[in-house]
Amino acid sequence: MRFHVMTLFPEMIINGLSESITGRAMEKGLFSVNAVNMRDFANNKYNHVDDYTYGGGAGMLIQPGPVYDTYQHIKDKLAREHNVDMDKKLRVLYMTPTGTPFNQSMAEEFSKEEDLIILCGHYEGIDERVIEEIVTDNVSIGDFVLTGGELPAMMIIDAVSRLIPGVLGCDESAVYESFYDGLLEYPQYTRPPVFMGKEVPEVLTSGHHQNIEYWRLEQSLKRTKERRPDLYEAYVEKNKQTLEKLIKKGKIHI
Ligand code: ADE
Repeated sequence: MRFHVMTLFPEMIINGLSESITGRAMEKGLFSVNAVNMRDFANNKYNHVDDYTYGGGAGMLIQPGPVYDTYQHIKDKLAREHNVDMDKKLRVLYMTPTGTPFNQSMAEEFSKEEDLIILCGHYEGIDERVIEEIVTDNVSIGDFVLTGGELPAMMIIDAVSRLIPGVLGCDESAVYESFYDGLLEYPQYTRPPVFMGKEVPEVLTSGHHQNIEYWRLEQSLKRTKERRPDLYEAYVEKNKQTLEKLIKKGKIHI
């Protein structure tokens, strides 16, 4: 898979993703990140890509020309080097707090693309006309405002790339057990067996796999109910019969 990031801070993207799991996966050639500096497409001698907002208001906006030219440059390169059809409608994500909140199923959907273009805003944003022209998905990473789209873009690349086969080692599974799907993960423990007087829950050292599964499900349910009541309600609604059976048999207590 190839990620193409349209940004004013390409080094931020490359440096951030070159470490750890994503860095190793790129070295192995499992995916690539091409960070393209939109300033290289400024059409003035000062290399300015921003200007005042029509209608007034604080801050500067990125102009449409350099954004469109960066997009065309990426498409041309794909056509030349990878035989990608110039007419192919490529998926272009714009990182914006006004977008659809990002989630795991969007990560799964994006991971099916061969090429994913990510547009990062800066300053007060980008001229709407070029967004209308090239963007297919407006994506937010949460209800807060950051100084730019670079950190959100890195988050998207991280979440999407870990779904590419081979990126995670066999110890780290990207697939949730289907029954836990939609719940928050249960608490986990490693050595030492006692830390600050706290023991690891007994069931986990019992070797009784079925009981461990029940305990983990119960913990996931409790945690989700407390921290994400919205997810909990949806999960209970979907799995009512199975849950009722487990409660009746005394396997889980919620
Ligand atoms: N750019 C600034 N804030 C953002 C957010 N919350 N999500 C995506 N892009 C952003």
